[in-house]
Amino acid sequence: MVEIEIEPHEEFEGVYWAIFEDGRKKPATENLVPGHQVYGERLVEYDGKEYRVWEPRRSKLAAMIMNGMEYFPLEEGSKVLYLGAAAGTTPSHVSDIIKESGVEYCVEFASRMMQELIPVCEKRPNMIPILGDATKPHGYAPLVEQVDVIYQDIAQPKQAEVVADNAEAFLRPGGYVIVAIKARSIDVTKEPEEVFEDEERKLEERGFEVLEVIDLEPYERDHVGLVAEYHG
Ligand SMILES: C[S@@+](CC[C@H](N)C(=O)[O-])C[C@H]1O[C@@H](n2cnc3c(N)ncnc32)[C@H](O)[C@@H]1O
Repeated sequence: MVEIEIEPHEEFEGVYWAIFEDGRKKPATENLVPGHQVYGERLVEYDGKEYRVWEPRRSKLAAMIMNGMEYFPLEEGSKVLYLGAAAGTTPSHVSDIIKESGVEYCVEFASRMMQELIPVCEKRPNMIPILGDATKPHGYAPLVEQVDVIYQDIAQPKQAEVVADNAEAFLRPGGYVIVAIKARSIDVTKEPEEVFEDEERKLEERGFEVLEVIDLEPYERDHVGLVAEYHG
């Protein structure tokens, strides 16, 4: 059996480091639903608690943490709007971090993904599945309250516009967005750097202050994670 130790992350509440025997480390979260895996991730018992190893090749938020993310607006009790929830891989780690007192509205428009997401939400009372299109926030407005954080990972064009429209509808002033931006989904003809700068500028024009932009290599090519504060 490989021994894995768990240490709290230096700064981020609810995030841990799983430290392997050879010294490598990966992020981890304390399992809100002990005994249950979501995507085949490793479960680790440590000091009477169960943790889930958070795979940076499966989750862009874990890749951001691996690559030295500095601003982490999620904490116990946060209200989160998650756009592009897919089968619930990253949303389940967000659910671990915000715990029972938090709530995560998980928007996904592909019904096949929804079929995988629903059983995850059934086990986790803080996750609410919403079959909806992130480009049309009025469609799910009756189901979502004001939130502290919007996380967006939709791999589509117009990512800045979509997150800004959702912020106008749901984000509290002083709230934060975390956006995974895939250059090739936005414009295949432009250099990724140019695409990222365009998205950053569009967010600034819509009332955001960009706090950091994190390259996701080697976990994802031509992707960044962006964290911004909303001034409205
Ligand atoms: C890269 S995957 C998300 C992975 C997920 N964030 C995770 O880390 O576990 C992108 C997801 O966004 C969904 N998506 C794309 N455009 C969308 C839209 N306009 N509204 C809602 N979901 C959308 C896709 O169906 C897909 O499941």
